[in-house]
Amino acid sequence: MKIYINGKFYPEDEAKVSVFDHGYLYGDGIYETLRAYGGTVFKLDEHLERLRNSARLMELKLPLDDPKVAKAVYDTLAENSLTDAYIRITVSRGPGEIGLDPALCPEPTVVIFAKPFKDYPPEMYEKGIKVSVCRTRRNHPECLDPAIKSTNFLNNIFAKVEAKKAGAVEGIMLNHSGDVAEGTVSNVFMVKEGELLTPPAIAGILEGVTRSVVMSLAEGLGIPVYEEPFNEVRMWQADEVFITNTTMEVMPVTGVDEHVVAGGAPGEVTKRLRAAFREEVRRCSKTR
Ligand code: PDD
Repeated sequence: MKIYINGKFYPEDEAKVSVFDHGYLYGDGIYETLRAYGGTVFKLDEHLERLRNSARLMELKLPLDDPKVAKAVYDTLAENSLTDAYIRITVSRGPGEIGLDPALCPEPTVVIFAKPFKDYPPEMYEKGIKVSVCRTRRNHPECLDPAIKSTNFLNNIFAKVEAKKAGAVEGIMLNHSGDVAEGTVSNVFMVKEGELLTPPAIAGILEGVTRSVVMSLAEGLGIPVYEEPFNEVRMWQADEVFITNTTMEVMPVTGVDEHVVAGGAPGEVTKRLRAAFREEVRRCSKTR
C-alpha cells in the first residue's frame, strides 16, 4: 500500500507521523471515510464539504483547498491501482511542543490511504443485523460537537465495546435527553406507518453523507421523511429500522437487543431504499 502524507507517497512500512503530532498526543484531528466505486469516489464533494466544516468547527486550517484534496484522493487510488476502495483522509493538528494550544503546531498532517473494499457478508443485508442500545451516551454537543468528524472517538469506542459484549454488530447511542442519537459509526432511521424518521441534527449527531442521500432518495420515491427525535421504545416498536454509513450503505436492522424488529426480516421501505441507493451509486459512477 502506498500512503499519502503531506504531498508525498510512502510505502506502508515507511509511512510515519511524528510521536509529537497532537493527533496522537491529544486526539486532535479530523477525518473522513469515503468509498470509490468503479474508479469514482462517491459524493466526494459532500465529504470534502464536511471535512472543511469539521476543520472550521475546531479552528484547524486545512493546508489544501478542495480541488487539491480531491486530486490527492484520486492520486492515492491511482498509486495503489484501485477502483473499488475504502478511502480515509485524516488531518491532524500536526507535530508541536507538548501542550494543548493548537498554536504549538504550525503544520497539520494530512494522511490519505486507500485499500481494497471488503464487502459486508451478504446475509447481513438479507437477514438484517442486531444492534444494541448502549449505556454510553453520545457526546453532548456543548462538550464535543458530534458534527465534528473528529479522531477523538473514545465515547464511541466505549459504546462499540458494549455493543460487542451484547453480541450486536452496531451500538446505538442515546443523547443527553435520552433520545436516539446515532450508531457508533452510523446514522439511524425508523419507519412507522410508511413514514421515515431520523434524529435531527440537534439530537447531537454527525450528519452522514449517506443519511442525506437516503433522505433525498426517499423524497424522490414519495416516502415522507421527518427529522424528528424518537426514543429507544419507539425504535423497538417501529415497523422497520435501518442504519446508514459510507461503508454499509443501507443496512437493515432486525433486532434491537432482545426485541425483534420488522418481524425479523428486512422491511419493504428498507429494501426499496437500499435498491435506490445502489442505483444512485451506479448513476454516480457512470457520470464522472
Ligand atoms: N463513520 N455517525 C458517525 C458517528 C459516524 O462515524 C459515521 C461514519 C456516520 C455516517 O456518516 P457517512 O454516511 O457520511 O459515512 C454517522 C465512518 C464510516 C467511519 O467512522 O469510518
